[in-house]
Amino acid sequence: MHVSSSDGAPKGIVKASFNQVSKRFGTGPESVLALEPISLDIAENAFVCLVGPSGCGKSTLLNILAGFETATSGQVMMDGLPVSGPDARRGVVFQQGALFTWMSVQDNVAFGPLATGKSPTEAASIAAHYLEMVGLTSFARRYPYELSGGMQQRVGIARALANDPQILLMDEPFAALDAQTRELLQEEIKHIWQDTRKTVLWITHSIEEALFLATDIVVMTARPGRIKARLTPQFALSRDPAVVTGTEFVRMKSDIFGMLREEALTAQRQEVMR
Ligand SMILES: Nc1ncnc2c1ncn2[C@@H]1O[C@H](COP(=O)(O)OP(=O)(O)O)[C@@H](O)[C@H]1O
Ligand SMILES: [Mg+2]
Repeated sequence: MHVSSSDGAPKGIVKASFNQVSKRFGTGPESVLALEPISLDIAENAFVCLVGPSGCGKSTLLNILAGFETATSGQVMMDGLPVSGPDARRGVVFQQGALFTWMSVQDNVAFGPLATGKSPTEAASIAAHYLEMVGLTSFARRYPYELSGGMQQRVGIARALANDPQILLMDEPFAALDAQTRELLQEEIKHIWQDTRKTVLWITHSIEEALFLATDIVVMTARPGRIKARLTPQFALSRDPAVVTGTEFVRMKSDIFGMLREEALTAQRQEVMR
């Protein structure tokens, strides 16, 4: 395990990078400094999990890379080019589906490929491929309202993958799901990542989820968000669901728990003082 208090240059090709990126919302005395200058490299094929107390700027960081927000200072790059707005090369999945309610599951997933000029036949075959990957082939003709929350998130993941993005940006994608569904989907997403090795930036509140999935865990401080620690757990390539009971897993879980608790207490004090 490697832990560093700062950025720690990852091995391999850098897929995306934050270079001294800060974010302030608003101006004047009422403004909020959400992120202190942060530098972070995301290596190609990595599965990077961001964890940190509520309000520490995780979504802000992800949204800046997505191109939904602009940084107040610093630079965000993907594949060596500055990020200047949303782009199909970055696939985003939110906490709740954001599916097109009036379209079938199949059409939701085929939407992106069609929009980028694929023929209807091609788009349908791409959709079929990704729906199979997330185990929803038999639900292709259904509508989102006919699906459970877990199934809707699977459609969201299939829809993001169907655009063949260079990086997947996922903001607490499983947060609204019950514990059992969540565990099953964690296994599923792990297998998808193992098979595709898509670069992923993933936000979660669950330490266990981060340890189970990530090649890199970035622990953030309370607002204004900074990087408190970067860890490189070794469980992402395992196919054994029981890794979560291993000694090293449990030890790292307790380390991260300690770090997050400290930051959550700081965040709480900030709330009280406001
Ligand atoms: N559009 C916005 N306008 C003003 N403040 C914002 C906006 N978005 C986020 N913030 C503030 O920035 C901080 C970080 O928010 P966010 O990135 O959503 O945190 P997290 O995802 O870690 O919970 C919070 O204090 C939040 O209130
Ligand atoms: Mg958030």
